[in-house]
Amino acid sequence: MSRLDSFIRRLEAQRSLLDWAAAAVTDRPGLILEVGLGNGRTYDHLRAKLPGRDIYAFDRANNANPASLPPPDRLVLGEFADALPAFARQHPGQAVLIHADAGLGDPAANVVQVRQVAAMIPPLAASGAIILSDQRFEHPDLLLQDAPVTIPKNRYYVFIRK
Ligand SMILES: C[S@@+](CC[C@H](N)C(=O)[O-])C[C@H]1O[C@@H](n2cnc3c(N)ncnc32)[C@H](O)[C@@H]1O
Repeated sequence: MSRLDSFIRRLEAQRSLLDWAAAAVTDRPGLILEVGLGNGRTYDHLRAKLPGRDIYAFDRANNANPASLPPPDRLVLGEFADALPAFARQHPGQAVLIHADAGLGDPAANVVQVRQVAAMIPPLAASGAIILSDQRFEHPDLLLQDAPVTIPKNRYYVFIRK
């Protein structure tokens, strides 16, 4: 498989899971969190699928396409290590869907970040919340699920908050 094939498969998996998760929380009140705004593509997708919902996006810097920019009061700039625990103190357990797309290119740094982010997710999430991640979290409060839609193995992960 070429790198282009691999990239397309990853994006297809991401979209399929976002569509499934958005439908699953349509009738469930609560916050939606986008951990890693980046260019804003997946934020924009969530916004389109969940109109009118409170969607907060986190990133260390605003590099989003202007067309995909959250309102200022929904954009949380800063390092995850600071911003996510602070947000959890303000909005404990209020998220019903968290999408984390923040894998790092440096494998060693990625291991550290995945462990840190995994620990910061549970205080943000309501019981039963859906967490989608490009990285596999290991945390006793995050239960790994079989993907509810057909996606390539180990491309994306689905967890339910205990
Ligand atoms: C892969 S991009 C997200 C892409 C996004 N899902 C999209 O569709 O455009 C990951 C983002 O996470 C942010 N990020 C990674 N590690 C971070 C950290 N420790 N604190 C804050 N932001 C971080 C990066 O700045 C980057 O914009």
